[in-house]
Amino acid sequence: MTATRIDGKAFAATVRGKVADGVRALKDSHGITPGLAVVLVGEDPASQVYVRNKGLQTVEAGMQSFEHKLADTTPEADLLALVAALNADPAVHGILVQLPLPKHVDEAKVLAAIDPAKDVDGFHVLNVGLLGTGQKAMVPCTPLGCLMMLRDHLGDLSGLNAVVVGRSNIVGKPMAQLLLGDSCTVTIAHSRTKDLAEVCRRADILVAAVGRPEMIPGDWIKPGATVIDVGINRIPAPEKGEGKTRLVGDVDYDSAAAVAGAITPVPGGVGPMTIACLLANTLTAYCRANGLPEPEGLTA
Ligand code: GUN
Repeated sequence: MTATRIDGKAFAATVRGKVADGVRALKDSHGITPGLAVVLVGEDPASQVYVRNKGLQTVEAGMQSFEHKLADTTPEADLLALVAALNADPAVHGILVQLPLPKHVDEAKVLAAIDPAKDVDGFHVLNVGLLGTGQKAMVPCTPLGCLMMLRDHLGDLSGLNAVVVGRSNIVGKPMAQLLLGDSCTVTIAHSRTKDLAEVCRRADILVAAVGRPEMIPGDWIKPGATVIDVGINRIPAPEKGEGKTRLVGDVDYDSAAAVAGAITPVPGGVGPMTIACLLANTLTAYCRANGLPEPEGLTA
């Protein structure tokens, strides 16, 4: 079997298009533009690229983008004061504080200070609890994007065996909750799991989110399974020239694609869905805050 390649880049463009349609309709009916504020502390190069892309795509979707760039020496109290100001700002419907934060800042304290209704990352403990109890929550963007791709490819997920490899708060745990919400039988596997290969072979849906390059080979995959690769790992690529690198996922793509029914590539799979879902969450936050119907197909 050669797996269907799930094109996350194209799917993300469709999601962004739906968000842009929703934003246009809101402007026409209510005269208000949804706004997303992104806070970046310090000068981490990868974070700067993320934040720039977020800003560009926010504006492309017709929303207002507010960027706050602070020095990496910014005191925690100043960051908390900015979050409080954004919470109170009626033009801001979504707030994202880019992680990681500098060491002198208590990350949990900052995330807890964000108004849960504006928490478009879904990292606030209230949203974590709402998701865990099957209630309406703001849902972390990467697992939401994975869920959208799975629903689009498979339709009804109920009764399927889903294995999530990785137990992070940002991907693994919320992914498991979302799959449970769609009535999958869910296993969370991790670095201490005994006989990980055997656990993976039971999966109709395999979500890899461990951050270890090409760790999952094709012979861990059930024939016909749907494989979602969340990993983005940069490895040396001497074949491209001295000092060159390339991006790979947590799954060994070539051997996995020979066995799976469908698989997301890296790059071009889950990656583009994350920002698309951030925009979707901003629109959702706006609609919920104003008692409007939620945008269709953009929520969990
Ligand atoms: N840093 C890397 N990815 C993310 C993300 O999705 N949200 C936030 N807040 N920070 C990140």
